[in-house]
Amino acid sequence: MQRLGPDKVYFKEGSIVIYNDDFLSTKCIDKGCIDLIVTSPPYNVDIKYGSYSDEIPYKDYLKFTSDWLTKCFQLSKDDGRFCLNIPLDKNKGGQQSVCADITTIAKKVGWKYHSTIIWNEQNISRRTAWGSWLSASAPYVIAPVEVIVILYKKNWKKTSGTKLSDITKEEFVEYTNGVWNFSGESRKKIGHPAPYPIELPRRCIKLFSYTGDTILDPFLGSGTTLIACLNTKRKGIGIEIDKKYCELAKQRLIAEGKVFQLRLESTK
Ligand SMILES: C[S@@+](CC[C@H](N)C(=O)[O-])C[C@H]1O[C@@H](n2cnc3c(N)ncnc32)[C@H](O)[C@@H]1O
Repeated sequence: MQRLGPDKVYFKEGSIVIYNDDFLSTKCIDKGCIDLIVTSPPYNVDIKYGSYSDEIPYKDYLKFTSDWLTKCFQLSKDDGRFCLNIPLDKNKGGQQSVCADITTIAKKVGWKYHSTIIWNEQNISRRTAWGSWLSASAPYVIAPVEVIVILYKKNWKKTSGTKLSDITKEEFVEYTNGVWNFSGESRKKIGHPAPYPIELPRRCIKLFSYTGDTILDPFLGSGTTLIACLNTKRKGIGIEIDKKYCELAKQRLIAEGKVFQLRLESTK
């Protein structure tokens, strides 16, 4: 069971909880209790978050990555899984092989590699930086995709949990095809600089966890993962360092919980 550090609980209703805390130092979650982690960490591409600087030297970013991946490892069950949404690479501020680097660090801190899903978010706006246009001198190659790296702690075969899957035949066939096609989420509509669409955590949760499982998002942002938990009857824990985004996540849970006929009331 997760420990409810009372001062850090920003919002709790039923089996959904938001902690306003720094994931690196939080003591709100007990070790070895998480079935599935679904998250999208800061990408270090100078996104203007409230409390967090998203433009630190790449070396420091990799150290931060190692620290939080280690913490995730400690919090996971032995048959725990991890869906890590990251960019394939980065061009702004110098080319970096982000996916390869983060996957290498994940393996170094103990995670085992299972597979990679390519998320084709059909974002053509990324196709404007050509480098040397129509010249071989220094052209840029940009893949308008992100990835979801699938990792696990010790055993890929899941032995804990209710053993109740809620995925349909059509969903299973579609989700096990490692190229996912759906659009990204509008920042303006959500009010957060880097939200992912609910389809992303929803697919991960339905494919890789049982109903009733405990799902963690250590970088909750606008709360998308918890909304997916609510809609799929999973327990959800979200950590977010910025109070403003905790409030946004709470409001989205209340609003979208109503859409799905689930009663959620504010605790504040
Ligand atoms: C890429 S966004 C996540 C967006 C989220 N998937 C959504 O759909 O809204 C990363 C989030 O991590 C938060 N963050 C950065 N450092 C953190 C830390 N050390 N602990 C907890 N949250 C952190 C940022 O404030 C930001 O909201």
